[in-house]
Amino acid sequence: MRRSSLPRKDTLDHLTRLYSASDDPWDHRTSAYEAGKYAATLAAIGPGPFREALEIGCGNGTLARQLALRCTRLTVMDCIPAALQAARQVLAPLAQVTVIEGAAPQDLPRLDPDLVVLSEVLYFLTPDEIADLGRWLRDHATGPVIAVNWTGPTDEALDGASAVALLAEALGPGTTDHHEGFRVDRFDLPG
Ligand SMILES: C[S@@+](CC[C@H](N)C(=O)[O-])C[C@H]1O[C@@H](n2cnc3c(N)ncnc32)[C@H](O)[C@@H]1O
Repeated sequence: MRRSSLPRKDTLDHLTRLYSASDDPWDHRTSAYEAGKYAATLAAIGPGPFREALEIGCGNGTLARQLALRCTRLTVMDCIPAALQAARQVLAPLAQVTVIEGAAPQDLPRLDPDLVVLSEVLYFLTPDEIADLGRWLRDHATGPVIAVNWTGPTDEALDGASAVALLAEALGPGTTDHHEGFRVDRFDLPG
């Protein structure tokens, strides 16, 4: 049974505070570590093209800008307006991209994606929310679900490994690539 129909207020407050100080709170645009992580993420995703891709928790759109080149259509969502403002700006030239405001799993769009990217977002969700997201993925998604997670401690209740383990309870086992400081998990959902 879900405890709440809304994302946790403390998580939203924490994210809002981060984005009020900077529209790039994790240095996605400039950090060599993030650039390496994006390269590993795109390698796990493969070349595509994907008919209908979805990135949940797109932040300021840095990864989405690269991902879009492999997608016929890409929908990206985030729950923080300041992040979306930055994402809309960088993604505006890419006609295949739609940017929507919302929190997963509560506001997931009406799509049947053939690629879902969850990059550094799962540990912001509660266990119940990850279970609901997993059910939605089983019902709506086909093809790869790619989960990228920092392997150190987080400021949230979950860390990356426990968040992925909860997703695997819903989706079944995936494959894991371990990198310095992060992991990339791939779940292949049947068509
Ligand atoms: C660390 S950033 C990662 C951004 C991007 N995916 C990347 O890897 O570069 C996590 C983003 O997820 C968003 N987020 C957290 N919980 C979310 C939720 N339940 N639904 C949608 N977005 C969420 C945050 O606002 C933040 O922008």
